[in-house]
Amino acid sequence: MKYADRTNFMKASEIRELLKLTEDPDIISFGGGMPSPKSFPVKFVKKIVKKVLDEHGPQALQYGPTEGLTPLREVLIKRMEKTRNIKCNLNQIIITTGSQQVLDLFSKIMINPGDYIVVECPTYVGALTAFNSYQPNYISIKMDKNGMNTDELEEKLKANKDKPIKFIYTIPTFQNPEGVSLSPERRKHLLEIAETYDIPILEDEAYSELLYSGKPPSSLKSMDKSDKVIYTHTLSKVLSPGFRLGWVVGNEEVIRKIAIAKQGADLCTNMFVQFIAKEYIESGLIDKQIPKIRRMYKRKRNIMLNALEKHFPEGSSWTKPNGGMFIWVTLPEKINTKDMFPDAVKAKVAFVHGAAFCPDGSGQNTMRLNFSNTDDDKIEEGIKRLAEIIKERLK
Ligand SMILES: Cc1ncc(COP(=O)(O)O)c(C=O)c1O
Repeated sequence: MKYADRTNFMKASEIRELLKLTEDPDIISFGGGMPSPKSFPVKFVKKIVKKVLDEHGPQALQYGPTEGLTPLREVLIKRMEKTRNIKCNLNQIIITTGSQQVLDLFSKIMINPGDYIVVECPTYVGALTAFNSYQPNYISIKMDKNGMNTDELEEKLKANKDKPIKFIYTIPTFQNPEGVSLSPERRKHLLEIAETYDIPILEDEAYSELLYSGKPPSSLKSMDKSDKVIYTHTLSKVLSPGFRLGWVVGNEEVIRKIAIAKQGADLCTNMFVQFIAKEYIESGLIDKQIPKIRRMYKRKRNIMLNALEKHFPEGSSWTKPNGGMFIWVTLPEKINTKDMFPDAVKAKVAFVHGAAFCPDGSGQNTMRLNFSNTDDDKIEEGIKRLAEIIKERLK
């Protein structure tokens, strides 16, 4: 077959490939980015399903508007204003098939082959998978404990002024994979840069509800005075990833373009689950469930942090996230985490090697550990196994 040129840029996500190796139920996997199945409100959903079928059966089983179910958009608008201080009207929001679809559709309307986009280094692998189909070049900006280094961003934008830079993709709150958040100063700086250089920001807040103490940082969207931010969020981390429900907020023009792109992709998002989600949010069940999820994940994070402290060798360091699902570990330079993966699988423990998240190929001695989807009593054992492999390799 004569495949399109773009398929040369479409690489299978390394994570998905690696995780196939870890389907063995005896493996303690810190690899995937999945919520705990214990976070799913199965009992409530069962009741809501009946209510939806009783009250809206035919409509819930029908095609729906590409923009999404209006009552769901209305409850999301209300909730976003309450939780993230984001204001928008019905013409500025579209329901999508997961926030993953936003990454694809926004790329579709923005990127010509050879254009440049700015990403954090490391960044969410699934975003790179979505972007790659549209053949962009990447400008990678290093992360530290305060998120993306905005001084480096400014320098690189200055140096590449003549290049077509289409957008800046950022996960500023409890980032995947590092778990860190962009500091308030850098949030301001990033918005100033976007305005000065006239470059839109795609803000992905997939993890902002998973907060473990204090207040979450303000969303970039709520601070945006010059209409530079396109905002995406999801119900995957606080309700169900199987529902595949996300959304995107932007000005009416960009939302119209995304709607047209979505028509070509899937006509509309699953109406049945949109009805269920609307009931779940409107009835306040979501606000009862989220504190429980936060408590569970905070406990798991603490177990993992304590285990790292106890078992990992000197010369290793890791992030101490106040939210999200991940800890990012940096090991002594001598260790290549990709090379060590087969040893880990043999020892029945899994992680994702850090270079998978870095479009510039850096991060050889780093790894991402997920803490949300491992039983409490297995976390320390998994960390101990990893530590033994690392210590062996350091000899
Ligand atoms: C940062 C980030 N954005 C987007 C997604 C996509 O999530 P979904 O399509 O389930 O909303 C994920 C999933 O892990 C993620 O980590």
